[in-house]
Amino acid sequence: MDKHFNADVLIEALPYLRKFCGKIIVIKYGGAAMINEGVRQTVIQDLILMQQVGMKPVLVHGGGPEIDKMLKKLNKEAIFVNGLRYTDDETMEIVQMVLAGKVNKDLVELFARMGGKAMGICGSDGGLFMAKRMRKNGQDLGLVGDIQEVKTDAIRVLLDNGIIPVIASIALRADEGSGFYNVNADSAAGAVAIALKAEKLILLTDVPGVMEDRVDVGTLIREMDVEMAKTLMKKGVIKAGMIPKVEGCLQALAQGVTAAHIVDGRSPHSLLVELFTDTGMGTMIR
Ligand code: ARG
Repeated sequence: MDKHFNADVLIEALPYLRKFCGKIIVIKYGGAAMINEGVRQTVIQDLILMQQVGMKPVLVHGGGPEIDKMLKKLNKEAIFVNGLRYTDDETMEIVQMVLAGKVNKDLVELFARMGGKAMGICGSDGGLFMAKRMRKNGQDLGLVGDIQEVKTDAIRVLLDNGIIPVIASIALRADEGSGFYNVNADSAAGAVAIALKAEKLILLTDVPGVMEDRVDVGTLIREMDVEMAKTLMKKGVIKAGMIPKVEGCLQALAQGVTAAHIVDGRSPHSLLVELFTDTGMGTMIR
């Protein structure tokens, strides 16, 4: 590659390196974007680089596909109530094992292999996530929770010691009963970003970003403000699975996070491109 091109890339990055140094950046990773091992390595490398240049990345992850794989292996049938997935005790036990036991530790192992230092925790560690039972339109979904409170002490200890926190999205029950709730990883990342007063919340997904036409990458919206996001939701341009993501971003922005980004996690080094170039590659909301 042309050496001057490399220098140009670094010079373009300079203002962002300066601006984000010392800042907390919360990244959500999960779902289909997490399946490919090669891509997973590039995401972890990006986080290590971010830390190396003085930023404080925090990784929050889900692991839906891995959970489904294990449920299948154990011949555990998914339960649906009125079309919505219901999390019973046994399923929650499997969610806990897979998310906190396997996915979390696999990510930490990858950090170690790529030369970084990370520590895996889940919502119960240090009382990180306290949740209450979620009801969707009044319907009980079983052991699924809404985070009510985030205790950031454990994350801060790690950040202060140069360790990247890797957080599995399960929570302690803050209502009656003992044990855990399964919590949505996008919401968990948003809650962490708010609690840490993060500079940015970045959702790594399996789409290029918010698009006017979901099947045409040419219609990707690179930047929008809160008003525009709300209008696009009202008009139905932002729909289906994108709605909770954008809503999570708006909530974080309303509570002090400076910018929220929706970026394609399947594209190698999308995090670095988003952070260190002028145009980025996903959708930025501010
Ligand atoms: N690198 C800059 C930032 O992180 C700008 C990113 C622009 N991204 C976009 N999708 N428009 O703040």
